[in-house]
Amino acid sequence: MTEVKTYRSYRGLPMLAGLATIEDAAKPGLSVEACVARLKRYHYAFMRLHEIFTARITAEPIYELKTAFSHHAYLCSEHVAALRQRIGEMREPPLGLEEMPHEALAIFFDEILVAPTTEALLLGIYEHALPALDAALQRHLRDTNPLTDAPSVRVIRFARLEIDDLLEFGREAITCLVSDSQYAEYREWLTYLDGLLAMSGAVDGRARTPNEEKPGRQFSAKPYVFNRVPKRDERFVDVWNQGVNAESFLYNPDMPAKPKTLMMLYKRLREIDVPEMMASIITETKGKPWDYYRDMSRQLWDEARHAMMGEVGFVALGVDWTKARITVNWSHRLNTECTPIERHAVLYFIEQGLMTKTGKRYEWEVGVESGIPLLATIQDYDWADEVLHAQLGRLWYIPAIGDWKTALEFGDKCWSRILSNWQQVKDAGLTVHANWWPDVYRQACATWGEAPNATVLAFAETYEGARADLKGVTGSA
Ligand SMILES: [Fe+2]
Ligand SMILES: [Fe+2]
Repeated sequence: MTEVKTYRSYRGLPMLAGLATIEDAAKPGLSVEACVARLKRYHYAFMRLHEIFTARITAEPIYELKTAFSHHAYLCSEHVAALRQRIGEMREPPLGLEEMPHEALAIFFDEILVAPTTEALLLGIYEHALPALDAALQRHLRDTNPLTDAPSVRVIRFARLEIDDLLEFGREAITCLVSDSQYAEYREWLTYLDGLLAMSGAVDGRARTPNEEKPGRQFSAKPYVFNRVPKRDERFVDVWNQGVNAESFLYNPDMPAKPKTLMMLYKRLREIDVPEMMASIITETKGKPWDYYRDMSRQLWDEARHAMMGEVGFVALGVDWTKARITVNWSHRLNTECTPIERHAVLYFIEQGLMTKTGKRYEWEVGVESGIPLLATIQDYDWADEVLHAQLGRLWYIPAIGDWKTALEFGDKCWSRILSNWQQVKDAGLTVHANWWPDVYRQACATWGEAPNATVLAFAETYEGARADLKGVTGSA
């Protein structure tokens, strides 16, 4: 093998297209069979992580975690897709991608899925599952031949780049949220998780113990039940408030563009209810091709971004967004009163309605007209995202029902079944529908250095009497 040390490329150019040195590429690596066996286990791990992140969005109260889980679920869905494609390139139909690689590994993820608290969930995902997956991916790069297996190496390098971001988020989140005593409380469970990993031969299965004991269950001894009821943290107060009809103000030609941006930011931030609702569709819809889950997760993540755009806009305008009432009505009702396909129908019905002249284009025009550059940027991208969502609806929702007309009618029917609950929530003492608008508008005026406009300040239209099925009345998207 001295040749591999003395061999020179033409005029000293980087060798092997920059993939590796001759020395590294001259070592044998994983066989295709061994490589595929490992790739299938990374695929399984990403699929389970996607499932866990998605399933925990709705009932997770903390907004920063809700949005992060939305992001992380989407990233996992992309890595699942990339791994499926790579496995399919390796003499592998039938792919066998739905098979569970090892019972202990399945229980490992089951346990994290049902983690009884946010703290346990964070520790399970970010301190155990993701580091174990990353370690396996790192071993793959070490064990495989960088030239023969270059396509897998590429997929793995991308995956590790994003896992790194997830791990960093997780580390910071755990520092902020998990106390020493909570840590101590879960220490035993976390040790047990590591035991499950060891039993399954780590994520890649390469160190499987020959005499296998039967893995036991702790939290997952009771089968997992998805919690459809959306929860919010304590900054979200008065979540049934329907006291300010944002659309009525936004579409009023007599109102000026600048204060309209506040109503748009309110609508954006209120979109946090869309991930809460879409997470339930994804979790409760089984047996679809992976592209369905990937596309739906992308849309879910976009909606979380739209909410964060609202947050950013409010902060940039010096407005305390907690003074606006970010309601939970829409996701709560769809999740608890409709089936998954009915929820999807409503989502599509609302989103195709945004494609008209008075929809997303109008919001962007208002953003431009307001003279606030950030608002134009936000609405520009929000519009582009919604065009994509309408396409995804055509791809995945309409064929599930039939033709376009039937699918649209079904969406309309589902949505109009949800009648306004303005009076009921008031009678139940859940809210008095207080008018939060003057407070929010005054804050923005202070930032703008402007005196409030009397007509704008006096705006007091509520959602009372507004039919819930009027496009966008309580619905986001
Ligand atoms: Fe959307
Ligand atoms: Fe949206």
